[in-house]
Amino acid sequence: MKQKETQKEDNILFVGIDLGTSRSSISASNNTREWVESYVGWPKDFISLQVVGKPVLFGSEALKNRLSLDMCRPLEHGVIKEGIEKSEEAVKEIIKHLIELAKPAPEQKIHAVVGVPADTLKVNKLAIRKAVSEFAHSLMVVSEPFAVAYGMNLLNNALVIDIGAGTTDFCIMHGTIPSEEDQKTILTAGDYIDEQLYSYLTEKYPNSKFNKNMVRQFKEQYSFVRETPGDICVEIPVDGKPVMHDIKNEIKRACESILPAIIETTTEMIARFDPEFQVKIKNNIVLAGGGSLINGIREYLQDALKEYGPCNVRCVEDPLFAGSNGALKLAQDMPTKYWEPL
Ligand SMILES: Nc1ncnc2c1ncn2[C@@H]1O[C@H](COP(=O)(O)OP(=O)(O)OP(=O)(O)O)[C@@H](O)[C@H]1O
Ligand SMILES: [Mg+2]
Repeated sequence: MKQKETQKEDNILFVGIDLGTSRSSISASNNTREWVESYVGWPKDFISLQVVGKPVLFGSEALKNRLSLDMCRPLEHGVIKEGIEKSEEAVKEIIKHLIELAKPAPEQKIHAVVGVPADTLKVNKLAIRKAVSEFAHSLMVVSEPFAVAYGMNLLNNALVIDIGAGTTDFCIMHGTIPSEEDQKTILTAGDYIDEQLYSYLTEKYPNSKFNKNMVRQFKEQYSFVRETPGDICVEIPVDGKPVMHDIKNEIKRACESILPAIIETTTEMIARFDPEFQVKIKNNIVLAGGGSLINGIREYLQDALKEYGPCNVRCVEDPLFAGSNGALKLAQDMPTKYWEPL
């Protein structure tokens, strides 16, 4: 009997997928960890097909060949763009690609837990179900910050703040599966910083040539809030010649632009609880997502929230896989009755 059960387990590949606006990752029970930028591109015509040599491209490879491709970033602003078949198709391609990267054995059944931005969960559960159904046998869709919280064993009196690209997602854990009330999404996140930085730099250096992609790279390399030692200078072409530009102030202003809304939402969400629980939650705040890599953001938020009593903020160790690792742990622990057969 025991052997039979093991065999059954062996024939299931559990996967946790974090479907993000900018990056999507997969963690699987065969120990695979893979990620891809959430861009999909299809060749525009038969010439493009010959140029790129593949029917569909992903991530940085798609970006590099963008002139030959119909590009789609399906989860912009955290929601599958409604009514656009292309976005649904793109989500499907990303899921298919990630599951292929996890290399399931030929007869293996896939049980997938998919973490998505909290708003996507409300609006697009059906679309996600459709996208996954071809490639998996069982499914559960959860919000990204809940997956992070579960992965870190933060089941009670904790607040996870996931600062992603399209959205910052909040989730309070208080000993049960979080309800809609325990979760909130705001639109001030990485993409918003990029837009701010782009407009500050355009204003300061009207004759320099740069694009959104370069601006994002500047941010990822130098992001900070409050103070950081030294200058921040980058090379940008002016009239075709590379020239050094000082961007320190602009980086600071752009990164700090997301803080007021994060502080306000945090205070608001915690205020709903009994004072006794408020103290516990405030001492158990975890930052996740790419935005948690901004230098000094942890200290900044901790100090700002301390105004109303003691507070402890920490960061997840591995922002790229915290969501998919948590989703995988959920998949492995979840009782059968929660699975939705496909
Ligand atoms: N070192 C860094 N400093 C500041 N921002 C960073 C850094 N590294 C990555 N980011 C930003 O983090 C964001 C991506 O984070 P993450 O992968 O968590 O988002 P996502 O899951 O794709 O998005 P969402 O959760 O909104 O769907 C991007 O805006 C990226 O530019
Ligand atoms: Mg995310």
